[in-house]
Amino acid sequence: KHGYFTFDPGFLATGSCESKITYIDGDQGILLHRGYPIDQLATQADYLEVCYMLLHGEAPNEKEYEEFKETITNHTMVHQGLHGFFNGFRRDAHPMAMVCAVTGALSSFYHDDLDIHDEKQRLRSAYRLIAKMPTIAAMAYKFSIGQPFVYPRNDLSYSENFLNMMFSVPAEDYEISPVVAKAMDRVFTLHADHEQNASTSTVRLAGSSGANPYACIAAGVASLWGPAHGGANEACLRMLSEIGSVDNIPEYIERAKDKNDPFRLMGFGHRVYKNFDPRATVMRESAHEVLKELNIKDPLLDVAMELERIALEDEYFVEKKLYPNVDFYSGIILKAIGIPTNMFTVIFALSRTVGWISHWHEMMSESSQKIGRPRQLYTGEAKRDFKPLKR
Ligand code: SDX
Repeated sequence: KHGYFTFDPGFLATGSCESKITYIDGDQGILLHRGYPIDQLATQADYLEVCYMLLHGEAPNEKEYEEFKETITNHTMVHQGLHGFFNGFRRDAHPMAMVCAVTGALSSFYHDDLDIHDEKQRLRSAYRLIAKMPTIAAMAYKFSIGQPFVYPRNDLSYSENFLNMMFSVPAEDYEISPVVAKAMDRVFTLHADHEQNASTSTVRLAGSSGANPYACIAAGVASLWGPAHGGANEACLRMLSEIGSVDNIPEYIERAKDKNDPFRLMGFGHRVYKNFDPRATVMRESAHEVLKELNIKDPLLDVAMELERIALEDEYFVEKKLYPNVDFYSGIILKAIGIPTNMFTVIFALSRTVGWISHWHEMMSESSQKIGRPRQLYTGEAKRDFKPLKR
């Protein structure tokens, strides 16, 4: 209809799923959520509006938006029992390990939203997850630095609340910069959903067995953790630290081209986009806005900007269609805000929870839902007799 949807029949032959939520055209660099272009959503809507449309299919009107915002706000606190749950972790546990464990444990605290065949209960668990992930993420951070947990507040926006729970301390309130809150909200939106990526497919496969929504989202968190996927933003900042200075960039560019060297430029390339990742375009703009607004002078960020310039001009990367992806710039923004590297993937998981749970809800709404069962090509031994050991 719009010239976007060139349908590939082979797509259905692979047994992949159908979905109405997100459309990607990797060659054209197109990303639509419920038909709305990502650049319009990231600059003209806030994250909760995007959450509403991913979950319900249409952008909310004013009344629907206010009701949704109030519902989410009223679910931001977690059961007090979860506070004790954190005490079982070592202080140096990776925040992703804590978020994965705590998310899976939520089903032992909430029992009125586990009937996966009841739409109202499915939506209640979706609202709880969208509302509680920022609280759990901030708790993981506070626990890791030995500071007391900060409770969510009902007078703050979604991103302001997260920043306050991350950085406020009893002795001193955190002063929320509107630019930082806007950039944080934009990071959430730009990571909200991305069709059938590895972690979303994991959530769908887990959900197809009838597992409860909290277990399915915990499975998504686990899959996202890998450095090839959601762990890329953390890996990207570690790579920038390893490069250390602009002078060292050429050596690393050559290493990235060397097939015998496992080194890859983290934050570059994409499984689907063979053009610029449309999210990266908006994220890049935000990164420069935040750096300017906060007047940040950080050598790592100088390395990032020079690496981007060189890679975009280098014929190998142009030929391989390797462009900076969403994770390259999100790491720069998060570092500029003062978020530690080991929290980057947690923020990706927080942002992506709405995508995961929207796909889960869409799939569970289908009456013909069957358990997933990926096929395999057997390449092992032909049938042979077993020879028992002589004992
Ligand atoms: C995310 O699927 C999604 O939607 C994911 C995601 C989402 O929102 O859910 O978009 C989020 O995961 C973004 C990607 C974050 N990962 C990274 O930034 C890690 C670094 N990137 C790579 O590891 C890699 O680009 C992948 C894993 C993302 C994609 O790997 P592919 O599928 O092998 O990429 P490709 O087939 O397009 O590669 C083309 C060539 C290959 O060389 P040849 O085999 O053709 O000789 O480019 C090479 C690759 O080896 N290559 C790289 C490279 N990425 C690919 N070489 C150097 N540095 C890189 N980053």
